[in-house]
Amino acid sequence: MNKNPQLNKHGELQHLLTTEGLPSPILLNILDTAESFVGVTERDIKKVPLLRGKSIFNLFFEPSTRTQTTFEIAAKRLSADVVNLNIAASSQSKGETLLDTVDNLSAMHADMFIVRHSQSGAAHLIARHVRPEIHVINAGDGRHAHPTQALLDMFTIRHYKRDFNNLRVAIVGDILHSRVARSQIHALTTLGVPEIRVIAPKTLLPNKVERLGVHVYHDMEQGLKDIDVLLMLRLQNERMLGASLPSSEEYFKYYGLTQEKLSLAKQDAIVLHPGPMNRGIEIDSAVADGKQSVILPQVTFGIAVRMAVMSILTGN
Ligand code: CP
Repeated sequence: MNKNPQLNKHGELQHLLTTEGLPSPILLNILDTAESFVGVTERDIKKVPLLRGKSIFNLFFEPSTRTQTTFEIAAKRLSADVVNLNIAASSQSKGETLLDTVDNLSAMHADMFIVRHSQSGAAHLIARHVRPEIHVINAGDGRHAHPTQALLDMFTIRHYKRDFNNLRVAIVGDILHSRVARSQIHALTTLGVPEIRVIAPKTLLPNKVERLGVHVYHDMEQGLKDIDVLLMLRLQNERMLGASLPSSEEYFKYYGLTQEKLSLAKQDAIVLHPGPMNRGIEIDSAVADGKQSVILPQVTFGIAVRMAVMSILTGN
């Protein structure tokens, strides 16, 4: 029996819910397919007919700038019809349940749901519920997973560093509340990164995080030494219950990425951030806009990566 709910009985991707447990050939196939779509996104006419006639529903129950917009652009470049459900103006506000909403949209012949929700497991719930011909992509669920963010991060790392097998990668900041960090750790591990460090104060680390195979540092000076790739994280105040930190000034002093702290990493280290950024809290503007930052290329690559995921799910 196939235990991974995102794979079909042939071991192919049916839904994309998490990077955890996804075999390396599937991750690499997504990255390689995205590579072929980068060319499409750079053409004058940025469209291919792969998803013509398909209906894709963006269900964003939490705010988003990058993920929702790049999914919409990606779907349109694949020639799909895209519906962005306005959640605030939808019948959710009258008490309709999540699954009733999904059933009604399925009755409108939905082919794919892209779901962001504050509750961990929301996308899994929908994936278990829908008919087998409908695909579900998790666009971020609670603290749990954000698989397409991790995949576009992997694409960006491979673009600049070519190979995963000789890298030291540091994930810096609010690991405890981060779905991005969890998805990154699983993807980096599967793709063969030999050393993954997490750098954070104790209050922003999950219990027993070492079990994920990462090395724990509480100090930027030690943690950034010889690092090739820095994955910065946002302080996720909206998921913090009570005070996890003395103050944002104190946080910036010890964990905010400045040019001075960045100079402790390798000279050619690259800096990623999933956005939205808190400038002056987890990252200084001089670094965010500096020559080692690949934060905006991440966003651009996100279109090709999301095109790849949608085309693979639909077998095109
Ligand atoms: N990285 C990310 O998920 O950004 P958005 O919240 O803007 O989609």
